Amino acid sequence: MSLEKRRVMGDSRTDSGEKGLKRNVDESPFRKRTLSLQSGFKFLLLFCILLFIVSFTLSDTCLSLWDSSKLNFHKLLNQTSQLYLLHPILRVRPKLILETTTVSTTTAPTTAPPGIQYHLAYPRNYHFIMDNPEVCKYQTPFLVLMVPVEPNNIAARDAIRQTWGKEKEVQGQVVLTLFMLGSSGGANVEQQEKLKQENEKHHDLIQSDFRDTYRNLTIKSMVIMDWLATHCPTAAFGMKIDSDMFLNIDNLVIMLLEPSVPKLNYLTGHLMWNRPVIRSEDSRWYVPEELYPEPKYPTYALGMGYVFSNDLPEKFVEASKSIKYFNIEDAYIGVCMKKMGLKPSSPPKPSQFRTYNFKYDRCTFSKVITYILGSPQQLINFWTDLKRPEPPC
Ligand SMILES: *[C@@H]1O[C@H](CO)[C@@H](O)[C@H](O)[C@H]1NC(C)=O
Ligand SMILES: *[C@@H]1O[C@H](CO)[C@@H](O)[C@H](O)[C@H]1NC(C)=O
Repeated sequence: MSLEKRRVMGDSRTDSGEKGLKRNVDESPFRKRTLSLQSGFKFLLLFCILLFIVSFTLSDTCLSLWDSSKLNFHKLLNQTSQLYLLHPILRVRPKLILETTTVSTTTAPTTAPPGIQYHLAYPRNYHFIMDNPEVCKYQTPFLVLMVPVEPNNIAARDAIRQTWGKEKEVQGQVVLTLFMLGSSGGANVEQQEKLKQENEKHHDLIQSDFRDTYRNLTIKSMVIMDWLATHCPTAAFGMKIDSDMFLNIDNLVIMLLEPSVPKLNYLTGHLMWNRPVIRSEDSRWYVPEELYPEPKYPTYALGMGYVFSNDLPEKFVEASKSIKYFNIEDAYIGVCMKKMGLKPSSPPKPSQFRTYNFKYDRCTFSKVITYILGSPQQLINFWTDLKRPEPPC
């Protein structure tokens, strides 16, 4: 048995007793020197191990290992979550999170002024691959409805085209409805061809080359802003409205025509105040502190449908150069407004911007502006009923 082993055993037996102390005193000078040499060596070894651990932790390999195990855990937690089934890029999430896009001359029309970082949400990092650049050339819309929608969600687009999207003139004002799509990835040639045909028929699709995913919705909203700023700057108002919404377009235009509604720096909808940022990683609305460190969001209008004066889109595009990307698109717009020294306004009648509705009531639907619906068929049914000639109430 080695000296070392015996010493440990002896110590453990007489750990806290007087005996151990006495034994130490009894030890020979030779033994003491070996021990001090040994502990010196042990210290060195420990130091080396520590150094190794520290450098390993800081290395990329460890970060991505740690991250992919976290992702796998999430996959288990939410098998239905599309997010993690999508793209290998998610396996290098730390890079994605910390990524800011430095603009080179090939990726953007402008060069970055020194000191400015163009973040992921800066829409001029992306390019339109399908467009209707003429739609605002020969008319000046009062209101442009911009509907973010997934490329394959034809049902939602068709329902909107048959309902509120088909209204070209409301209360004597020109209204335009357009759909904003991201890209579903290079491999989908057939789908892309179908989209092209759909656009040739309806002339209402705009597609950008960012990947169309749930986590990228902020990019989509900012690309909407970019399109309005560059392709339709003469419109008076814009609206971002989700594809699963009921929209009483008459009431909306009536509201926007009210003299009390400002023509500049105006954004309204269903307002959210003092909303805490969700830090639970299982949530669909999870935002890590690296992206948005503050505990609460500034006031923002719920993403289901917010209306704004059309001077704002250009200002949002500018603001997004210096605001880090995070995946809650409506709160991101709120952060842009705060940065610009602005705040969303309450609508003249706040109760008109409603969220969920599970049962249809003709009288109520005739008074609101928005409702979230369950399906495209529901939209068609409710709309058809609402448009019957009899008075609704
Ligand atoms: C799983 O993820 C999807 C997409 O993010 C989300 O809609 C759904 O609510 C999640 N389910 C659970 C049980 O968290
Ligand atoms: C968001 O879009 C960018 C640009 O197309 C893409 O590189 C990235 O993978 C997308 N992120 C997610 C989470 O889908």
